[in-house]
Amino acid sequence: MASQRLQQVQGHLSNSYPSGLLAGETAIITGAGQGIGAEAALLFAKEGANVVVADIDANKAQEVADKIKANGGKAVAVSGDIMQIDVVNQLVTAAAELGGGKIHHIVNNAGFTWDGVIHKTTDKQWDTIMDLHTKAPFRLVKAAAPYFRVKDGENRSIVNVSSTSGIHGNAGQANYATAKMGIIGLTKTIAKEWGPQFGVRANTVAFGSVSTRLTAAKEDGAAVEINGEKIALGIPKAQSKASAGFALVPLRRSGTPYEAAASILALASPLCAYVSGHTLEVTGGAGI
Ligand SMILES: NC(=O)c1ccc[n+]([C@@H]2O[C@H](COP(=O)([O-])OP(=O)(O)OC[C@H]3O[C@@H](n4cnc5c(N)ncnc54)[C@H](O)[C@@H]3O)[C@@H](O)[C@H]2O)c1
Repeated sequence: MASQRLQQVQGHLSNSYPSGLLAGETAIITGAGQGIGAEAALLFAKEGANVVVADIDANKAQEVADKIKANGGKAVAVSGDIMQIDVVNQLVTAAAELGGGKIHHIVNNAGFTWDGVIHKTTDKQWDTIMDLHTKAPFRLVKAAAPYFRVKDGENRSIVNVSSTSGIHGNAGQANYATAKMGIIGLTKTIAKEWGPQFGVRANTVAFGSVSTRLTAAKEDGAAVEINGEKIALGIPKAQSKASAGFALVPLRRSGTPYEAAASILALASPLCAYVSGHTLEVTGGAGI
């Protein structure tokens, strides 16, 4: 229902040319090959943005970029591990090229979990998750700084993706919870550094449970490969069964990737022109 309403608002605002909430603006979206990031890439493009579709999975990134182009949008796929600095730099170069020298938005969304209880979590698990969810976003924002620290009055924003694990902590996710809280500190700092002179907004979305492969059964066998090491994704079935399910979620269900992406679009769009430094909890009401 909420998604339909948002589409109505968009339709209403899209009557003038150039059309779309992000018409002519250029965005880098990391982890855009599937899940929430892919939906965000499609939504941003539908709203007129040029999109750099970034993902470690080259084929999936290309598919999303092709879909955007097939629908008349502008997109380019860039593949690589966002934890590598050369990939970060490639993204900025590709975006500046796509946007004719301008970049308006970064959505730091790429991510996965590598869970473990505290007494069994290795330094490698810790470092990887911190690098992925805090250092990589910091490096991307830093590399793109020359395109954000400008005074042309255009809509510019950073949206960082966090989690309720970052806000509340979560058993088995010391690394992820710490990183996802860290990204909120980065967001607020960007808002305070780049807001006053340049009008750049920075916001965080903290998702509860969204139906993607990260929340699917671990037994499904999804994995991500980092430096030759396969990291299994998902939640063990036994653990899902033991949890309270959606009893503590007022909407009694998980969110869809589209609904999650729509919240990112809302924050990036001029509808949130006076929203900065905020953490938007997208949880179906969980935690209230
Ligand atoms: N699904 C949820 O319930 C949930 C809840 C809270 C937060 N989140 C966060 O939302 C974001 C998106 O997750 P999702 O649920 O859509 O997962 P997903 O697995 O469906 O998509 C994540 C995408 O990121 C890409 N990726 C992963 N590591 C990468 C790397 N090192 N470099 C480049 N690309 C990389 C993957 O290839 C994948 O396409 C993540 O930051 C995740 O932590 C998800």
